[in-house]
Amino acid sequence: MAVFSNSQVNRIVVVLAVVMWAAVRGSGAVRADSSTVTAAGVTLHSVSVDLPGSDRSFPNAAGAEAVNNNCTGCHSPGMVLTQPPLPASVWQTEVNKMRTTYKAPIVAEDVPAIVAYLTQIDGAK
Ligand code: HEC
Repeated sequence: MAVFSNSQVNRIVVVLAVVMWAAVRGSGAVRADSSTVTAAGVTLHSVSVDLPGSDRSFPNAAGAEAVNNNCTGCHSPGMVLTQPPLPASVWQTEVNKMRTTYKAPIVAEDVPAIVAYLTQIDGAK
């Protein structure tokens, strides 16, 4: 259940931006270099983070193209390949979740090929 509606979130973001802008302007004590900004007693530090890479790729099999086209935009293949062997019904639910909950732009016609592929490669990865 959402705590805030989208329009409430937009309003909160705008209010926060205005408050932060006012704090930075009003304090007259903005000190900025390449990695820190201090204003109104608050210091923000920039940090650099190296995220782990993944060199796993989907094994070749019928339907691999549909999976490569639709399932690598938001996370690595490893997110999918790390799952235990699952029956088609569970993969169907998983693909539905990517489409509805995470708004993955997967065309409906590709779903059967994706589900068949994911079910078929279980144990072959
Ligand atoms: C629009 C972005 C997006 C696309 C495209 C996408 N996913 Fe995901 N997927 C996510 C997010 C967000 C998570 C949750 C990540 C987390 O929990 O850290 C996730 C997690 C997963 C998981 C881990 C289990 C779970 O339910 O959290 C699996 C398996 C998975 N995705 C499969 C797929 C498959 C198969 C496709 C292609 C049909 C796909 N994803 C395409 C966003 C996407």
